[in-house]
Amino acid sequence: VKKIAVLTSGGDSQGMNAAVRAVVRSGLYFGLEVFGIQRGYHGLIHDDIFPMDLRSVGDIIQRGGTILQSARCMEFMRAEGQQKAAEILRERGIDGLVVIGGDGSYQGANKLNKLGIRTMGLPGTIDNDIPYTDFTIGFDTAVNVVVDAVNKLRDTMSSHERSSIVEVMGRYCGDIALHAGLASGAETILVPEVTYNMQEVADRMRNNFEKGKRHSILLVAEGVGRGEDIGKLIHELCPDYEPRVTVLGHIQRGGAPTPFDRNLASRLGDFAVRKLIEGESGKACGLVKGELVLTDFDIVVNTKKEFNMEMYELAQRLSQ
Ligand code: F6P
Repeated sequence: VKKIAVLTSGGDSQGMNAAVRAVVRSGLYFGLEVFGIQRGYHGLIHDDIFPMDLRSVGDIIQRGGTILQSARCMEFMRAEGQQKAAEILRERGIDGLVVIGGDGSYQGANKLNKLGIRTMGLPGTIDNDIPYTDFTIGFDTAVNVVVDAVNKLRDTMSSHERSSIVEVMGRYCGDIALHAGLASGAETILVPEVTYNMQEVADRMRNNFEKGKRHSILLVAEGVGRGEDIGKLIHELCPDYEPRVTVLGHIQRGGAPTPFDRNLASRLGDFAVRKLIEGESGKACGLVKGELVLTDFDIVVNTKKEFNMEMYELAQRLSQ
């Protein structure tokens, strides 16, 4: 491998910049030429590719978002788009590509690998929905954003003896709700991985209130449904309850990455480059039980991340 390129794709996440920095600086350290691709696969198809040097990734480790920008590209979903992308890389003599993104981005990288382009994937998403890595880049920061918001909500909820419903992101995965819920002492956590009964949820809130818990926080993962709808249902089942609903939305994707995310991104970015140099391809990089690991894209994109039931039950036990 002599020339490599890096792109960020799908929803951005905090720590993507730290990952880009690690890919660029490790690549240059090992004597490679490194290129940046602007706006993910969209930029790749439109040949929006430029050389990167040590200084082009200066002062970004602490910044949220991605200097390479990101996009969700429909054209690249089609076979012609993928062929075009592979041709552009071949014409430029780029023989290794690092893709930083989530599940959809991995599927694209897997397609390119099958077209003969050496690819490596880094898990860049706040959702923590990628298997074969304990954590994705951005997840820890997003959880911090949610915990900070819940702390603030608790101040006002406790003054007014109110209940609050907080809708968090995560797509089909409940990890943001679970980790932020345990860390903030949420009374109820609703995630798509666990079926729930709304009547029981409402009864639990009422019982808690009667037992002296005069305010409560319910965290709902977006994969379960809209916070607004859950609020209406609770009000119907328990008319003396009028929960206030907060949708945290894209705030969860912003802000400075935590040191954990920066270090995860730095380790994985460097690992991806070293593995490309060793001749690996078509693999996702991850951190499992503290160890850096590689797993075939084919396995990763066809596996659902396991939900941590033990942690979920713990959150329930501690929130009585
Ligand atoms: O995958 C990251 C994520 O923020 C999800 O949690 C959310 O469902 C989705 O992206 C939102 O997508 P968009 O930024 O296109 O609105």
